[in-house]
Amino acid sequence: MADQPYIKLRDGNSMPQLGLGVWQASDDDARNAALKALEVGYRHIDTAAIYKNEAAIGAALQETAVPRDEIFITTKLWNDDQLQAEKALETSLNKLQLETVDLYLMHWPCPEKGNYVESWKQMIALQQQGRVKSIGVCNFNNDHLKHLIDETGVTPVINQIELHPMLQQRELHAWNAMHHIQTESWSPLAQGGEGVFDQPIIRHLAKKYDKTPAQIVIRWHLDSGLVVIPKSVTPSRIEENFAVFDFRLEKPELSEIATLDKGHRLGPDPKTFNG
Ligand SMILES: NC(=O)c1ccc[n+]([C@@H]2O[C@H](COP(=O)([O-])OP(=O)(O)OC[C@H]3O[C@@H](n4cnc5c(N)ncnc54)[C@H](OP(=O)(O)O)[C@@H]3O)[C@@H](O)[C@H]2O)c1
Repeated sequence: MADQPYIKLRDGNSMPQLGLGVWQASDDDARNAALKALEVGYRHIDTAAIYKNEAAIGAALQETAVPRDEIFITTKLWNDDQLQAEKALETSLNKLQLETVDLYLMHWPCPEKGNYVESWKQMIALQQQGRVKSIGVCNFNNDHLKHLIDETGVTPVINQIELHPMLQQRELHAWNAMHHIQTESWSPLAQGGEGVFDQPIIRHLAKKYDKTPAQIVIRWHLDSGLVVIPKSVTPSRIEENFAVFDFRLEKPELSEIATLDKGHRLGPDPKTFNG
């Protein structure tokens, strides 16, 4: 199998383009999933304070034979802690049993709270202190991003947003790219539902490449230049989702998948979510 691809971020750091998501995984499931993923070759895990499984990921990192410096760990600053980023990061690092994380993301802008610029300033300070290697955001639209950059002069390296074949976010992806912000897809498999796997074009490509529908969807993210973090706690699926580096989709096939976009969100709208 070909080597897994890495993406160079605007601050010079690199990250594996494919990672394991662990939202809604219990402690046991998250620990076992992380160990399985590291065994099959994943080197990137995406967790968050609000997932309540950072300690389980920390346990897996202690247990694995894979050296720490080969693993890219993302965690996220929860909304209630926007104005106490340092304290929140300390808590996350303690749970993860780490000195630093590779990527720290602000989880939501929560525009009505009006705190995201101040929160970003705190995250910038944490990066300057070396407590986190890279800093980015999740769920920011281009107005939020523009405001953040205008106020601080520091551009996030990543914008992690809901993105799957039914919600392709092409305008925001293009805006991010124009500002050298890497787009990362959350719920990349549309949470395994929404009929994505049953779409005729996905089924047709699965047959053509002798792959599963999930592998076709993951390949679509990779070939679209997105960082992608499919979640699974099922060992066979963790393996399946990583076996995607030995084929590529052709341009017309990407265009056909583009027609599946329905602009349909599974999660909250960042414009109005202030939770
Ligand atoms: N920043 C944010 O606001 C935000 C929001 C949501 C998610 N995220 C991140 O994005 C990650 C991924 O998103 P997600 O967890 O919402 O959904 P997802 O990755 O789109 O889908 C996960 C679901 O698909 C199933 N699945 C996985 N691989 C499969 C396969 N090969 N065939 C069939 N079904 C498969 C999983 O089942 P099993 O686990 O039972 O195998 C699970 O039910 C999260 O875990 C989290 O790290 C971030």
